[in-house]
Amino acid sequence: MISKAGQPNRVVSGMRPTGRLHLGHYHGVLKNWIEMQHEYDCYFFVADWHALTTHYESETVSISDNVWEMVIDWLAAGVDPGRATLFVQSRVPQHAELNLLLSMITPVSWLERVPSYKDQQAKLHEKDLSTHGFLGYPVLQAADIMLYQAVKVPVGEDQVPHVELTREIARRFNFLYGREPGFEEKAEQAIGKLGKKGAKLYRALKTAYTERGEQDAIERSHALLSNNQNLTNAESELLYGYIEGGGRVILQEPEALLTEASKVPGLDGHKMSKSYGNTIALRDDPARVERELRAMPTDPARIRRNDPGDPSLCPVWDLHHIYTDRNTKDWVEVGCRTAGIGCVDCKQPLIDAILKEQKEIAQRADEYSQDPTLVKNIIADGCERARDTAEETMDEVRHAMSIDY
Ligand code: TRP
Ligand code: SF4
Repeated sequence: MISKAGQPNRVVSGMRPTGRLHLGHYHGVLKNWIEMQHEYDCYFFVADWHALTTHYESETVSISDNVWEMVIDWLAAGVDPGRATLFVQSRVPQHAELNLLLSMITPVSWLERVPSYKDQQAKLHEKDLSTHGFLGYPVLQAADIMLYQAVKVPVGEDQVPHVELTREIARRFNFLYGREPGFEEKAEQAIGKLGKKGAKLYRALKTAYTERGEQDAIERSHALLSNNQNLTNAESELLYGYIEGGGRVILQEPEALLTEASKVPGLDGHKMSKSYGNTIALRDDPARVERELRAMPTDPARIRRNDPGDPSLCPVWDLHHIYTDRNTKDWVEVGCRTAGIGCVDCKQPLIDAILKEQKEIAQRADEYSQDPTLVKNIIADGCERARDTAEETMDEVRHAMSIDY
């Protein structure tokens, strides 16, 4: 992968505001974000323009409600605006500008090949998705990512092809616009600054990569370049790109960081998902949560209290994996198999743990719900930071494309 010199370890991810978040989001995506915010420079945003690509007809009003509710869900779950930059896509117009410029260089055939294009059209067949915006969705996503020069993009499996496409667009962009006149001479001059040994190694690695496709040659060249004090940022960017035969790195190629699919079972025992209507919302009514958990299906072999069961055939057991400690789980395993405990007993520690988790989340959410200006200020602040970072990239992009007159 090509790296842009001098970039911090930046992470970008977005979420479409299409409804209330549930425990599946919490144990899948959000906990992951919360961990990453300690390690990386994170940019998390509400992908409201992305939501419009499928919800452009009558649902646009609900998007605006969902924007604020979703931000409150993030904050209540523990996403920290002191660590991560939280913003709303449509308030950073650079996303639209970069989307437009990237759309100039992205072949339509690349977009038609993205699996989600046909999959979603088939799945949402009641909607007319034969629009320019829907086809161009992955270009907008590429702009979201590259505007911040992200190195890592935490996404679910379905989104990996979008990150792959982003890399292809980055390569094409750098190839087209990173090779200004005199590019090769400049690269040769920069190689000269690596010292005799360094220059020799760089050339050997370049040959290893371009002639024999040796992937680790790229990594070794990165180590060589990042340890060198004599190069300016511009020169190392040039050499990062030159080794692959491409141009200067203007847009960083990101890597997908696969978020493990959440294992939270839904209330009917199937995977928790909005489309199955089996969710527990992050902020849900405790009485409903308790009632629904009591009614949740268990191992079908346990018809009567005295029938022994098998936890591995029971969705409630999946919840124990998430919510209870080793001792409780031992108690369940023995009790279930010997009919020593009933399913009602088995569910009680879960109900307690989930209600406790929800109570803490609800309390934090209340603080934000009761003070809408607080949330708006957090977002205003994040949007401002995002615009500043985005504008740095746009300056380079406009310059590279010679539209900075
Ligand atoms: N397409 C993503 C989804 O539906 C949301 C998204 C938009 C995104 N832009 C992004 C995710 C940039 C990661 C990075 O889930
Ligand atoms: Fe499932 Fe627990 Fe009942 Fe066993 S005792 S079937 S694990 S709910």
